[in-house]
Amino acid sequence: MTDFAGKGALVTGAGSGIGKAIALGFAHHGGIPLVTDRDESLAREVVAEIVAAGGRADAMGLDVRDTDGICAAVEASVELAGRLDVLFNVAGINIPKNVEMINEDEWHSVMDVNVTAVYLASKYSIPHMRRRGGGAIVNIASIAGIMAENRCSAYSASKGAVVLLTRNMAMDFAGDGIRVNAVCPGSTRTPRTEGYWQKSPIGKSEMAEMCPMKRSAEPEEIARPALFLASADASYITGAVLAVDGGMTAGFVVPTFERM
Ligand SMILES: NC(=O)c1ccc[n+]([C@@H]2O[C@H](COP(=O)([O-])OP(=O)(O)OC[C@H]3O[C@@H](n4cnc5c(N)ncnc54)[C@H](O)[C@@H]3O)[C@@H](O)[C@H]2O)c1
Repeated sequence: MTDFAGKGALVTGAGSGIGKAIALGFAHHGGIPLVTDRDESLAREVVAEIVAAGGRADAMGLDVRDTDGICAAVEASVELAGRLDVLFNVAGINIPKNVEMINEDEWHSVMDVNVTAVYLASKYSIPHMRRRGGGAIVNIASIAGIMAENRCSAYSASKGAVVLLTRNMAMDFAGDGIRVNAVCPGSTRTPRTEGYWQKSPIGKSEMAEMCPMKRSAEPEEIARPALFLASADASYITGAVLAVDGGMTAGFVVPTFERM
């Protein structure tokens, strides 16, 4: 159903994992994404994949902590497709430390990448969307923005902020035809999580055990709901915070009842 023919998008953190799957999916459905990442070579590889499949896209090195870089990326995405219909805020980092362990620089780096960049990319994209009568912003938050995740003090705080910033922007820009929604992934197999699982090999099965569906998601399983929220199929959805987590946030287990 999803059709992005001729539409433009800016995707941050699109060089790997969930952002890559979103960029590939957007292009697969006819859209023209500007694929950005702190690591420009990764972004170029994603664009090569899109072009090889017959799609259109361009790559740009963008560290989302750089305000001028964000402005340049917004302008470049408008130039690429002639319009900016969708902003996918995907870039995110985690430093799994509690408040006693995390230092101020680490705290600010998580906040800068995970929250301030969402504010900045939205701020500079909204005028272009408004000019064309509307658009969509999809923020990739986390289930850590719904429930606190142990040790991940800055990460949980940042993703909780993204959830409420999503709802705030949904209210403030509904009148401009701009819909703003968030996807909250649960554990997803990406280079980031594979990095954790290499350090702690039982981590993967531990995560799976915590999840009612007993497995992690593939990046495409997060990308598809994000693309839906960006599409005309979601024309009456704004301010939604969609957990895509195999049931992780659905409830809690009472061991007594399991034994009855
Ligand atoms: N993988 C999971 O289990 C999971 C779960 C919940 C939420 N998320 C969220 O999904 C998003 C993507 O995560 P992922 O697992 O695909 O990660 P990933 O590390 O595989 O990919 C993230 C990409 O963002 C880029 N990036 C990092 N810092 C950047 C910066 N300052 N500027 C621009 N690009 C930057 C990296 O180079 C990388 O290509 C993040 O916001 C993350 O918090 C992931």
